[in-house]
Amino acid sequence: MAKALKINHVALIVKDLEAACIFYEKELGLEPLPAFLFDYPTAFFKFNDQQQLHLTEWEDTHSFRGHICVQVDDINTLFFRMKALGIIDIQPWGKVRRLPDGAIQMFVRDPSGNLVEFSSDPEYPIDLKIFEDELYQEGIYVSGRNDFRGYKSKDATLYHKK
Ligand SMILES: [Fe+2]
Repeated sequence: MAKALKINHVALIVKDLEAACIFYEKELGLEPLPAFLFDYPTAFFKFNDQQQLHLTEWEDTHSFRGHICVQVDDINTLFFRMKALGIIDIQPWGKVRRLPDGAIQMFVRDPSGNLVEFSSDPEYPIDLKIFEDELYQEGIYVSGRNDFRGYKSKDATLYHKK
């Protein structure tokens, strides 16, 4: 059996490559990278030395709840910027929250309709104004489905360094 090692890249399908590039480069500070010499519209970006984001323009549909999650260095600034842009989406997974491990989670629709989650390091100091915001809610998301299958724990985390 082969062992899966890590996420190498995430490919998001976009409606307008230029608009998507502006969002990911200007709003999130991602560094453009050269893509291979494909004959279709695409742009590569660098998350870090091991992970890339690929944007590519195609006719496609977007998942309502499926998402990528990106850790950011300053969730406070991002929250107020995304709120000002009006693109925080509380429909699929509820409002902005603080997860039990301490990380903030928020969901945004990119210009093409891709759902992108942002998270903060659990130790990152959160601007207290976020906790009072109308877009914030205490506690984990409750679906009402009452289907408890799956491997779960009170000690679950997005971060594995501890
Ligand atoms: Fe997630």
